Amino acid sequence: MTLLEVRDLAAGYETGQVLFGVDVTVERDEVVSLLGRNGAGKTTTIRAIVGADTPHVQGGSITFDGHDLRATRSHRIPKLGLTLVPEGRRCFENMTVEENLRLAANHVTDPLAVDLILDQFPELAAMRDRPSKNMSGGEKQMLAIARSLVANPRMMLLDEPCEGLAPYIVRRIESIIEEISQERDVTVLLVEQNVAVALAVADRHYILDEGRIVDAVSTERLREDETLRQEYLGV
Ligand SMILES: Nc1ncnc2c1ncn2[C@@H]1O[C@H](COP(=O)(O)OP(=O)(O)O)[C@@H](O)[C@H]1O
Ligand SMILES: [Mg+2]
Repeated sequence: MTLLEVRDLAAGYETGQVLFGVDVTVERDEVVSLLGRNGAGKTTTIRAIVGADTPHVQGGSITFDGHDLRATRSHRIPKLGLTLVPEGRRCFENMTVEENLRLAANHVTDPLAVDLILDQFPELAAMRDRPSKNMSGGEKQMLAIARSLVANPRMMLLDEPCEGLAPYIVRRIESIIEEISQERDVTVLLVEQNVAVALAVADRHYILDEGRIVDAVSTERLREDETLRQEYLGV
């Protein structure tokens, strides 16, 4: 069953069009990556999906679980079961781990209990009363993912969750994504520049270049096709 279907999406900013006919389809229970170089349009694509105030969507359709997201107010989208973990792992720096999670619960109808979420994040459970400004980059990323789980989503969009993190934390984030997918049955669209992360966690991959989907490949093909990786991802 198709959960997310993006068809012929055109979007951009005051400064000009950035996406030109993007097609992305994610089936229920899949982990799919959207790969592309810096500036390819990855963040623009997922911000368009969740109805952020920018970019402006100029054309195409976005359907989640049968709902037309272009006709849905952005604050309703988490209630439909779709959440975004934005790039830059923003959290409220002066609030504790627990306060950050409780605040996220205010925006949803049927939030998951904080304790239930913290079970999956022993690192965060150990610092639940600490302000998040004192946390490491990896811990902040875990908190950003945990915040997004409060809505008990059916699908999660993650924007470069491993960016700038040390290799052992990257492994930990990869295993959290696997747990979310396998144990919580959350469908995942992972935005990445890091091919190794995409290869480790995703079932298949879309490649975005200059605002266009230029290929859709299996993990096996992505691993083996060096020419493809060099051309569009530079690795
Ligand atoms: N708020 C914005 N205003 C104007 N242009 C933007 C804005 N955000 C991104 N862009 C431009 O859109 C293009 C795609 O950016 P983005 O979607 O952030 O790429 P990616 O996430 O793949 O690195 C880039 O050329 C970028 O400069
Ligand atoms: Mg980005």
